[in-house]
Amino acid sequence: MKKRLLFLVVVTLLLSACLTVKHVPPTLVPTIAIDSSETTDKLSNAVTAESVALLLETAVPSATLPPTNTVAPSPSVAPTEEPTATTTPTPAWTATAALTPTATIEPTATFWPTVTRQVLPESVSAGLAPCQTRIVDTELLAMVTQQFSLPETYAPPDLVPLSDYFDDSITLGQDLFARQAIIDPLQRIIGAMHEVGLRPSIISAYRSYSEQALAWKWWSSQYPGRVAILSARPGYSEHQLGTTVDFGSPAIDHLFHVDFANTAEGVWLTNNAHLYGFTLSYPANTYEITGIKWEPWHFRYVGVNLATQLFTSGQLLTSWQLENLPPPCIP
Ligand code: DAL
Ligand code: ZN
Repeated sequence: MKKRLLFLVVVTLLLSACLTVKHVPPTLVPTIAIDSSETTDKLSNAVTAESVALLLETAVPSATLPPTNTVAPSPSVAPTEEPTATTTPTPAWTATAALTPTATIEPTATFWPTVTRQVLPESVSAGLAPCQTRIVDTELLAMVTQQFSLPETYAPPDLVPLSDYFDDSITLGQDLFARQAIIDPLQRIIGAMHEVGLRPSIISAYRSYSEQALAWKWWSSQYPGRVAILSARPGYSEHQLGTTVDFGSPAIDHLFHVDFANTAEGVWLTNNAHLYGFTLSYPANTYEITGIKWEPWHFRYVGVNLATQLFTSGQLLTSWQLENLPPPCIP
């Protein structure tokens, strides 16, 4: 009963954030806590306002969904992902890489994706703070993986409301926040998309630790066996950095779904986001490395140089960080 009550509260908060909330302090806004990337079972995994409403047994106001996009999606990007064993990262500082890629996505109750669980040798961990108390500076490349987390108390110092820079057609009327440091690139990338007739939206941006906890709980309640690869645990989300955004397209009414990759906005972002400094954190077929399943909507700003290097080489941000940055803390 208590669990159901908590669940209803969470879903209610999510819905109110999705549908109606405006000008509410960020701590009260659980920005859309809906992230999914299931591909094999679209109907059961498509997260729509209707499916959330079904849970609440309420009707969905029709105005909650963006109008249909008239730009034809390119058939070149198929929203399919066959999990396959992929190359494993080999960070220089890893003493015992406990990598155990699995060939299929098996339901697992584990809270920890095994993929990025590395054991730090003592010579490396000596002098490092536990991740719960690490100091996070504001440089853009702060490492956040499914191994290295952010402190519960961390919030970027320069968060600004996106409503100061974008109208409701972009934010869908949500109270979203991001670091001032990415506003200019975000305006440029969205401006470039408008210029070619695209109509992107930003469906999620900064998420505090507690908002991520709500998101994780929601996904956990929906997909208890798969939540580890669908949602980052609180502290483990790039969204807490304030430099990561999730894009949407008016071509689809289900949010956070791999069908986004097949929309005109998704295709354009896949091919061009790096030119504006954004990198796709969780590409298809890489969850064994990142710990997170394909999220074609989730882009982190890392600057044009690194984003272009990653795009050109095909290297994952997670792999690049593990290879090039010192471990930031003791997990
Ligand atoms: N869905 C991504 C992994 C997040 O929760 O940050
Ligand atoms: Zn995201």
